[in-house]
Amino acid sequence: MNQSFTQPDAQLSKSDKYRALLPQLSALTAGEPNLVANLANLAAALKAGMGFYWVGFYLEDGDELVLGPFQGPVACTRISKGKGVCGTAWQQASTIIVPNVDKFPGHIACSAESRSEIVLPVIHNDIVHMVLDVDSHRLNDFDETDNQFLSEVCTLIIDLHFKPIVN
Ligand code: SME
Repeated sequence: MNQSFTQPDAQLSKSDKYRALLPQLSALTAGEPNLVANLANLAAALKAGMGFYWVGFYLEDGDELVLGPFQGPVACTRISKGKGVCGTAWQQASTIIVPNVDKFPGHIACSAESRSEIVLPVIHNDIVHMVLDVDSHRLNDFDETDNQFLSEVCTLIIDLHFKPIVN
């Protein structure tokens, strides 16, 4: 287990920052079986490494999502299925990129500072266990590059916590 963390150079391109970060995310979580501990460190490393305004997880809890580990300003604790960007990504089991949150019907405004966002479902065996939510204070801040690399973070979580160990 390795808890060291090196912040990628701020001058790097978005993809290069993600490329510098992903091996560190694997190393940070390797060998740790506790889900909350790993989600907490993933949120902290993503915030520090990518400079996100808000990044965190909403976990499936019956008919609702409940706030999990995150980094950033305080956020709403519960989101119903189909509500907001998170609840819609959960219901549709697909990634949603919102260039302007004011134009997304039913967007849940936890912070007036949030202008754009990306939400990815963490799926295994057709079950959405949680969503990864990233918010920016800039408009149009997320694209396919974010989708591609943040999907790898979701895969890391599935591999660590939702796949049975096969000997
Ligand atoms: N904007 C989200 C709610 C969560 S906060 O942004 C942290 C939504 O509409 O799902």
